[in-house]
Amino acid sequence: MTDRLTILGLESSCDDTAAAVLRAEGNGAELLSSVVSGQTDLHAAYGGVVPEIAARAHAERLDLMVEQAVAQAGIYLSEVDAIAVTAGPGLIGGVLSGVMCAKGLAMGLGVPLVGVNHLAGHALTPRLTDGVAFPYLMLLVSGGHCQFLRVDGPDAFTRLGGTIDDAPGEAFDKVAKLLGLPQPGGPSVEQAAAQGNPLRFALPRPLLDRQGCDMSFSGLKTAVLRARDAVVAEQGGMREQDRADLCAAFQAAVRDVLSEKSRRALAGQPDLTGFAVAGGVAANQPLRTALEKVAASHDLPFIAPPLRLCTDNAAMIAWAGLEAFRAGRSDGMDLAARPRWPLDRTSPALIGSGKKGAKA
Ligand code: KG4
Ligand code: ZN
Repeated sequence: MTDRLTILGLESSCDDTAAAVLRAEGNGAELLSSVVSGQTDLHAAYGGVVPEIAARAHAERLDLMVEQAVAQAGIYLSEVDAIAVTAGPGLIGGVLSGVMCAKGLAMGLGVPLVGVNHLAGHALTPRLTDGVAFPYLMLLVSGGHCQFLRVDGPDAFTRLGGTIDDAPGEAFDKVAKLLGLPQPGGPSVEQAAAQGNPLRFALPRPLLDRQGCDMSFSGLKTAVLRARDAVVAEQGGMREQDRADLCAAFQAAVRDVLSEKSRRALAGQPDLTGFAVAGGVAANQPLRTALEKVAASHDLPFIAPPLRLCTDNAAMIAWAGLEAFRAGRSDGMDLAARPRWPLDRTSPALIGSGKKGAKA
């Protein structure tokens, strides 16, 4: 008898349609394929993700992604032993498309179905990529998420803090927009910032004066807007150097806030095995360097999974599904799609809902 298990993961909670095949054997797992179809082009004209457009695109593309993932894995669909699917939190139309597709597949193949929390997918990724042992600290920073999670098990998360308004990626995107830089904003702001002086504009470090690990990025974006308007009023326009200086100041402020709040999140937790990051903003090099230093100052390894597994993908859903399945959990055909699904059921819900949907 073998404990080999081949699991197909599906993700469709925001603006990426993704499928992945993961093969687990013993304690190890091999990612056989992971495909993602993004929708940036479909939403570009609207300044944010349009839920109806996203849902339709997911419904159209899910079958195709499954076909591609299975083909790239070099297996037959009939070899799949279980289906894992994001059942929330996210934009309800997209989540529903994924859950319906997964139910059809599970029923057709006669295999178990596992509903996965999207945030658990992100939070458990360091175990897939680096085999990190529980408990560890996870900082999720993307266009839709921003929270510190203490991860004690596949279904044991404690949220130590999070944003009370915008997610950092959202702030990067808005800052790029108001400075006339291309989307997605993160990479263009990082590139411009490399030529800038972070000290020319004094931007706030929101909520550092407040205890705990909650964060706020909305006021920072407004401060950039005011500084831009002041430059335009004074000079009659913006030069490239002004843009670079503003980007550098903004990036430094985000870096300082995330570093200080990480320090606080790590404090008083001597049992942690590592400090991990995930989400698109974790691609930011100056931020990574700063967070790596914070981890080192606590004598902890810093874990940053490769970017394709940090941003939205289905490999993380397959892995989280595998962890849940091994812990004895699976779902029936009554699995519900949940727009909101906080990982930590004890901490109070966060306020704020950004362009990428509800922040659980
Ligand atoms: O995780 P992700 O691909 O999607 C979700 O939000 O779920 O993250 C996308 C976000 C965007 O807001 C993008 O501007 C930001 O991550 N981002 C970055 C960088 N690369 C992507 N932010 C800062 N620096 C970067 N290099
Ligand atoms: Zn995500």
